[in-house]
Amino acid sequence: MKKIFAMTAAAALLGATGAASAQTVNVICSVQAEWCNMIATVYARTTGVKLNMSLKGSGEALAQLIAEKENPKTDVWFGGTGDPHLQAAESGLTLEYKSPSLPQLYPWAQQQAQQSGWKTVGIYSGPLGFGYNTELLAKKKLAVPRSWADLLKPEYKGDIQVANPASSGTAYTMIATLVQLMGEDKAFEYLKGLHKNVGQYTRSGTGPIKAVARGETAVSISFVHDAPQERMQGFPVETVTPSEGTGAEIGSMSIIKGARNLAEAKKFYEWALTPQAQTFGAAAKQFQLPSNKATPVDGNVPDFKKIKMIDYDYAKYGASGERKRLIARWEKDVNSLPR
Ligand code: G6P
Repeated sequence: MKKIFAMTAAAALLGATGAASAQTVNVICSVQAEWCNMIATVYARTTGVKLNMSLKGSGEALAQLIAEKENPKTDVWFGGTGDPHLQAAESGLTLEYKSPSLPQLYPWAQQQAQQSGWKTVGIYSGPLGFGYNTELLAKKKLAVPRSWADLLKPEYKGDIQVANPASSGTAYTMIATLVQLMGEDKAFEYLKGLHKNVGQYTRSGTGPIKAVARGETAVSISFVHDAPQERMQGFPVETVTPSEGTGAEIGSMSIIKGARNLAEAKKFYEWALTPQAQTFGAAAKQFQLPSNKATPVDGNVPDFKKIKMIDYDYAKYGASGERKRLIARWEKDVNSLPR
């Protein structure tokens, strides 16, 4: 009798742990921590499912997924620039999944899904530009840079920050944008010139605008939508988009091939595409344009119609070979140079 009871208790315990592990989704989150944490809290409260969040830049996230390919520990990759999501799709790291919500999304978000063979989807978009500290520029008697060309002026030496394209999708978006604007060789000449003015390459894409906000550097190359959050905290930060034209990211989401919690991963993925879930970006003071057409657009979201945008070729610059080659060329031809 005792033995039967012990066995039943053990089975119940096993059942309970089994159920508990089924109620978890392991997420790599490549947006800022406030948004990651907010969705984790809300999702756990409303569904009882725990989101295990690991915060990583877009390039770092891709590197982790490559490293764990044979034994994936991640179920969903939420956010981060779209190019590395496309590379992950091409490299067989992510799962083909055609969401029934696709027709609710803007064409750019659907196109991202289609171009990946339905292995990723657009969840937001945002334009690249420059951030600047109004007080520091005034103190240093520096003009507001209004073009890519302006950033090469010697007076900005040491006062520009941008992230490292190997770890940051923001910085890779910059390289791909410049290549599309100028042609590759001219873009690399430009990047060498810019290198002389860069005080620091940061790991994360948002490092530079945070440094601008805190007066550690005057100018950053950043997504425009990353500035209002700093301004709301009282920092003197403004943004501008370059007169020659600029690129935009299609922030994306992918389910990992071999995900251990696949059913729960799909539920979270579907939730993340709903207008309700997409309002948590702005609630966490992150102002990308949400991909669901029914999501209310916050007044702080940049108005694309007022910005000179290039027709960014996501398929080309998200291709595995192209992305790897451009980053390697930047390491060799630019980052290795003295400053
Ligand atoms: C910030 C932006 C996102 C972007 C991400 C990329 O969180 O708000 O829109 O996708 O940076 O981060 P990374 O570190 O890869 O440049």
